[in-house]
Amino acid sequence: MKRSGSPAPVGFFDSGVGGLSVLRAARRLLPRENLAYFADSAHCPYGGKSRVFVRRRALAISRFLLDKGSKAIVVACNSASEAALETLRGTFSGVEFVGVEPAVKVAQGLSRNQRIGVLGTPLTLNGRRFSRLMECYAPGMEVHTQPVSGLVELIESGRFDDPRTEATLRENLEPLLARGIDTLVLGCTHYPILLERIAAICGPRVDVIDTGEAVVRQLRNRLHARALLNSGPGPGHVEYYSSGAARTVAPVLGAIMGDPSLKVITVPV
Ligand code: DGL
Repeated sequence: MKRSGSPAPVGFFDSGVGGLSVLRAARRLLPRENLAYFADSAHCPYGGKSRVFVRRRALAISRFLLDKGSKAIVVACNSASEAALETLRGTFSGVEFVGVEPAVKVAQGLSRNQRIGVLGTPLTLNGRRFSRLMECYAPGMEVHTQPVSGLVELIESGRFDDPRTEATLRENLEPLLARGIDTLVLGCTHYPILLERIAAICGPRVDVIDTGEAVVRQLRNRLHARALLNSGPGPGHVEYYSSGAARTVAPVLGAIMGDPSLKVITVPV
C-alpha cells in the first residue's frame, strides 16, 4: 500500500518563548513541515508551579493544538514533560507526543572528567523523570544540579542583553564551574536562547548541551515511522498562538525568530 505524507501542522508548546529553541531546530531540520506554536505566556513560568497545575495547562493546550489539526505534539518544555507527558499520552491515545528531558545521557558520553552540571527548573530537577535519568546514567558521575529561578522571566521580557540577565547567569553558573564540571546540560528550553552568553561564561573547556536538535530528530523519526512527514514542496509556515497579550508577546517571539513582523494570535485557552 502506498502511504502518503501529511501537510497537517506539528504542534509545539511551552510556558512561553522557551520552546522556540526547539521550534528553531524544527525549522532547520524539517523545513517543509507546517508548525503551530503555543506560548502559555499568561501562566509563565511553570517551573515553580505544582505538577497538577502544569498538567492541567498541558491538557488544555494539547486539546487546542489537536483541534487545530496537529498530527503530532512536541512538549517543548522540560517542566511540562515532567508533569504531563504520561498523562497526555494516556489521554490522547494514538497521538504522537514528543517530550524533552535534561540530556544527562548525552553528557555522560561527552564528559571527559565525568563531572557534569545540570541547570533546570525546580519542577524538572525534583521530578520523577529526572530521578530516573539519574538512576540510569549518573552512577559513576558527579552530577551537580542548579535549580534556577528568575531567568525565565528575564527571557520572557526580552532582556537578552540586560545586566540582570548576565548577573543571574553568573550566579547560577559559577557554583557549577567551581565544581570543575566539563559538561553543562541545559535542562530548560528557555536557556538555549542565551546559549552564546552561557558558553562565553563557561569558557572553552566546558561543553554546553542544547537538546533542541536531538528532540527534532526524534520527531522526524516518529513522523517517518507513521508516514506523516510532509511530502509537499514546502517551505512550511508557522502559526503562533499565546494565552498572553499578542502585543507584548509578539516582539519577543519575533526577536528570537529573527522576524520583526511575526504575528501572534491571542487565544483564551
Ligand atoms: N521552558 C520550560 C522548561 O523547559 C519552562 C520554564 C518555566 O516556565 O519555568 O522547563
